[in-house]
Amino acid sequence: MMWKVLLVALSMAVNLSSGGFPYVEPTEGDVWPRPQMMQQEETYMLVRPGTFRFSVTGEDCDILQEALQRYTGAMLRSTSFRNRESSWRRSEDFNGYLDTVSVNLMKPCEDYPHQDMDEQYEIKIDSPDQPASGTITAQSIWGILRGLESFSQLLIPDGLEYRVKSTQIQDFPRFSFRGFMLDTARHYLPLRKIFENLDLMAMNKFNVFHWHLVDDQSFPYESAVFPDLSKEGSFSPIHIYTGENISDVVEYARLGGIRVLPEFDTPGHTKAWGPGQPGLLTTCYEDEKPDGTYGPIDPTKEENYDFLRSLLTEVTDRFHDHYIHLGGDEVDFDCWKSNQNITEFMKKMNFTGDYSKLESFYITKLIELVSHLPTENGYLVWQEVFDNGVDVADDTIIHIWKNRTLPEVWKEELKKVTQAGYKTVLSSCWYLNDISYGQDWKKYYECDPQDFDGTEDQKTLVMGGEACMWGEYVDGTNLIPRTWPRASVVAEKLWSSAAHTNSTSAAVPRLEEHRCRLLDRGHRVEPLWPSYCMSDVDL
Ligand SMILES: *[C@@H]1O[C@H](CO)[C@@H](O)[C@H](O)[C@H]1NC(C)=O
Ligand SMILES: *[C@@H]1O[C@H](CO)[C@@H](O)[C@H](O)[C@H]1NC(C)=O
Ligand SMILES: *[C@@H]1O[C@H](CO)[C@@H](O)[C@H](O)[C@H]1NC(C)=O
Ligand SMILES: *[C@@H]1O[C@H](CO)[C@@H](O)[C@H](O)[C@H]1NC(C)=O
Ligand SMILES: *[C@@H]1O[C@H](CO)[C@@H](O)[C@H](O)[C@H]1NC(C)=O
Repeated sequence: MMWKVLLVALSMAVNLSSGGFPYVEPTEGDVWPRPQMMQQEETYMLVRPGTFRFSVTGEDCDILQEALQRYTGAMLRSTSFRNRESSWRRSEDFNGYLDTVSVNLMKPCEDYPHQDMDEQYEIKIDSPDQPASGTITAQSIWGILRGLESFSQLLIPDGLEYRVKSTQIQDFPRFSFRGFMLDTARHYLPLRKIFENLDLMAMNKFNVFHWHLVDDQSFPYESAVFPDLSKEGSFSPIHIYTGENISDVVEYARLGGIRVLPEFDTPGHTKAWGPGQPGLLTTCYEDEKPDGTYGPIDPTKEENYDFLRSLLTEVTDRFHDHYIHLGGDEVDFDCWKSNQNITEFMKKMNFTGDYSKLESFYITKLIELVSHLPTENGYLVWQEVFDNGVDVADDTIIHIWKNRTLPEVWKEELKKVTQAGYKTVLSSCWYLNDISYGQDWKKYYECDPQDFDGTEDQKTLVMGGEACMWGEYVDGTNLIPRTWPRASVVAEKLWSSAAHTNSTSAAVPRLEEHRCRLLDRGHRVEPLWPSYCMSDVDL
């Protein structure tokens, strides 16, 4: 009896509940995104930072070694110790010290993450069949990476040590494409912010970094084949990403099991390409005279396709991923309409007056060209390409982004795209750059990419989704706080099962713990509601 009283008193000390009325009590040692299957007991083991180590019992490789080093550091460097008293460890629930966790990779490592990578893993901590020990097991290195992240989230700071509840997890993602998009054309983003964002993506099990590199406003990508593009098109000579910088990003992402999907959006959104590649863009006319402005890429000139072939050969080589994003959104027809050569070309081709046919002509040639590059890439395009009836190859992935305040409209689009047999990725409901007062995370949590009127076969064509952070009002100052933890909400929708993610109120205590965890690991991520974290006093 005395013991019980003492335990209650001590656990209250641990919670530091000295007053105040925060919005929510966080969970302790829960995992975000929520695993498919997770069972926890009240019994626990203790991790001692000075003694703990991972032991590799299966295959090994550089990705694994780097990960073990990273996680040992990140996990055991929490600042949440502040003012914490150690709880009474020798209760009847204490099942010993967890000094080693075996990491059992069953198949040799793959070099690069890819669309069909296997991300399943299993964790056992003090399980009935393996009491008083810990293992992380996976077939592939990508599963091991996801498992290490989950394990690190099980650790509950307790005095100078960590408690880990007896836990069994069997986990795998609901969707294979879990993307996050950054735009480095409207504002330049410093590399170190891109790296930090990749860290946060890995903590949330995102697996695709869609990099919208260039646009109307700037061309920061430094090409070795066409150096004038960034020389003339970047904001300044220091606002560029060199070949070496790109390789560093691809390598950093690879170590976290994240693909880098570059986007070179054409034929529209290309103003910044013009100065470095004369003749590429359509000259706009007014009253039979050039008006000094330029429109989309001129699709009538054969040499423009040669240029694109050379540029994209370099790009697909540097980025390694099988896929490239070809854009194709928001093509403005006015300039094409003003140009006599374009009009004549269209007459010759028999598509007089139908500018979406001209766009189609361009996209069809572009796709043809990309699928014949040495790397034989696959591609994504924004939904307009489908909407405008371009006859794209069967394996094209259609990226849905429009009508973000009108679910019935993007659901209809999902239906049409999958009815036509195309694979698709949804972003409409996850434009995180659209900000507003209040808890907008709830609407992100209520969006489900498979919630539309379609057959089971149609639903399997939904590869996943992507959160977007467009850059008009975002640079290095606000990227991290504006993105996180709002993007974490999307991450859980894409990883966890539909049944586990259908309630915002059930998510709240777990999301609160997760936000504090990201803050503890040194990331300035914004709050979601009135509350506190132990490390917010140090901000
Ligand atoms: C980007 O690459 C250049 C060389 O290509 C290098 O001098 C620079 O330090 C790199 N930037 C960062 C932040 O690593
Ligand atoms: C049409 O093309 C010719 C030859 O390239 C060029 O000299 C002329 O300026 C172009 N006209 C228009 C309207 O762009
Ligand atoms: C355009 O139509 C005419 C008449 O039907 C036909 O002779 C010509 O081959 C067509 N041109 C193209 C490029 O399809
Ligand atoms: C969907 O969005 C586009 C603009 O992106 C707009 O033109 C269209 O009218 C919208 N559809 C509906 C039904 O509102
Ligand atoms: C969430 O899904 C579970 C399992 O399918 C179901 O039992 C529950 O009623 C659902 N909750 C809501 C709020 O829809």
